[in-house]
Amino acid sequence: MRTQVVIIGSGPSGLMLGALLSKSGIDNIIIDRVDRDYILGRIRAGVLEVGAIGLMDRIGAGERMHREGLLHDGFSLSFSGRRHRIALKELTGTSVMVYGQTELTRDLMDHREQSGAKTIYNAGNVTPHEFDGEKPYVTYERDGVTHRIDCDFIAGCDGYHGPSRAAVQGKGLQTYEKVYPFGWLGVLADVPPVHHELIYANHARGFALCSQRSPTRSRYYVQVPLTDKVEEWSDDAFWDEIRRRLPEDVAQSMVTGPSIEKSIAPLRSFVAEPLRFGRLFLVGDAGHIVPPTGAKGLNLAASDVHYLFAGLEEFYGEKSKAGIDAYSARALRRIWKAERFSWSMTMLMHRFPDDGEFGQKVQEAELDYLASSVPAQTAMAENYVGLPY
Ligand code: FAD
Ligand code: PHB
Repeated sequence: MRTQVVIIGSGPSGLMLGALLSKSGIDNIIIDRVDRDYILGRIRAGVLEVGAIGLMDRIGAGERMHREGLLHDGFSLSFSGRRHRIALKELTGTSVMVYGQTELTRDLMDHREQSGAKTIYNAGNVTPHEFDGEKPYVTYERDGVTHRIDCDFIAGCDGYHGPSRAAVQGKGLQTYEKVYPFGWLGVLADVPPVHHELIYANHARGFALCSQRSPTRSRYYVQVPLTDKVEEWSDDAFWDEIRRRLPEDVAQSMVTGPSIEKSIAPLRSFVAEPLRFGRLFLVGDAGHIVPPTGAKGLNLAASDVHYLFAGLEEFYGEKSKAGIDAYSARALRRIWKAERFSWSMTMLMHRFPDDGEFGQKVQEAELDYLASSVPAQTAMAENYVGLPY
């Protein structure tokens, strides 16, 4: 087989890149280790920045997102028994959209199916080769047979554990990492959201987040120790815990119900540099991870795709390498700012086991300052809605 770009990974970054390339007449094949239903079963991000919304529109897959997505003009911070609203729209002129990653992925998969572009699911042992030279290729196994796809470029859109970053180990790859001493226990339930906007809560018992997917579906999270097992958390225990961490009026009006999904995700900050190795590019979670506190992971995948697509389009259209040469540096400038924001919001909102009461007092002082300072709120809002591409 031969194509122009092999995309490893059929998550949001691989699907968005594939759609933009196909639209520009650049042939591409997506390969994933698992199948469509498995990918759609992963409950992840919920908040889209204006840049990601624009990319979906540009692809031509944004129709359902605009119909069903919920525009949010602000969110609340809860701390010391009070609540303060960060008025995103008022402060920045911009809103965010609550639309689940599952739905966005489904829209992109349907769009790809309709376009007739090729996707190979359930591919084993996917491996990029010879990307240091001019003739890279990717091999994979299916039904006991090894297949080879020759290409011009390989886009590593295969998430944190995929083979693309593994293939550049020892080739000048630098990594920067911070692991946090806790995780998020998340519950999805068909109950109306407790509030029409998101609430991020700092509490002595730990962080909590009230998010949502629709007017009838809620997504809630609580900070838990890394030693906790999801099987140990009954639905009742979860509802009791999240209510303890919220202001009383919010806790009292919370509607509870059986969970549809429950999982624990560890929190990590991670950046790989550079994001280009010859004809192989790292894109999205393959190149960087943010803790979910700032809602930036999926949105960074979208901005990486924006920069890489611009480079590839320039390569094929204008026969210029300038865009692909600039990809890593352009993407990393934005990535590090989102890393900084996600880290700072994580530090501000969570209980750190070793920081004690001093740490808690410092957080409360910072939150109190934030509540009284419009410039501080503006800085938070500007980062939350997403920095320009
Ligand atoms: P992925 O979605 O991980 O996709 C990678 C794909 O590669 C997968 O389909 C995988 O099957 C495939 N793959 C892996 N290994 C191989 C292999 N060996 N061979 C072939 N294919 C392979 N982000 C936000 O922006 N906002 C939020 O509100 C938010 N909330 C989050 C909440 C939680 C609980 C979690 C866990 C994450 C959250 N994120 C959020 C982050 C967001 O989900 C990710 O950043 C996003 O999924 C990255 O997309 P991606 O396409 O780069 O990677
Ligand atoms: C979510 O809805 O899953 C979500 C929302 C905001 C975050 C993280 C996750 O910061």
